[in-house]
Amino acid sequence: MSEHRIALTVNGRQHRALVESRLTLADYLRGDAGCTGVHVGCEHGVCGACTVIVDGLAVRACLMLAVQADGCTLTTVEGMAASDGTLHPVQQALKDCHGLQCGFCTPGIIMTLAALTADRTPDAAQMTAALSGHICRCTGYQGIRRAVRQLADAPKVPHELEPPA
Ligand code: FES
Ligand code: FES
Repeated sequence: MSEHRIALTVNGRQHRALVESRLTLADYLRGDAGCTGVHVGCEHGVCGACTVIVDGLAVRACLMLAVQADGCTLTTVEGMAASDGTLHPVQQALKDCHGLQCGFCTPGIIMTLAALTADRTPDAAQMTAALSGHICRCTGYQGIRRAVRQLADAPKVPHELEPPA
């Protein structure tokens, strides 16, 4: 199995690693970078639990290889809250609206909504459509939909991502 040197930025920190070509980005982030908030469910792109932001786009980390992230800037759920503990607006909305129970699906949902609201102001229908690829086995989705409506009703400013330095 061939190995490759990669360098990437995760939540504002530089990472360098020697990785096997077959290593998924999800396994790299969880195992090497310590980002265990990247949850792995289906491992084939269906459930959305592993979603992270790569160069501004929401990406399923189980479908991307670590070597493909060489040179990229990533944000995982660990990089969402401010250093003083203030939650990102998406996190706050899910908290306010009881949009999670076991929390397994939650990091992926947060990352998809965070990517969507980082540079635009989507309405509730657009956010709901973006979440169509996320499976939650606990909530019945109603709390998540309330959180989406809260976000849609919030002041129309993009929630720019600012990973910790
Ligand atoms: S674990 Fe990646 S989409 Fe399900
Ligand atoms: S809160 Fe448990 S899977 Fe969504």
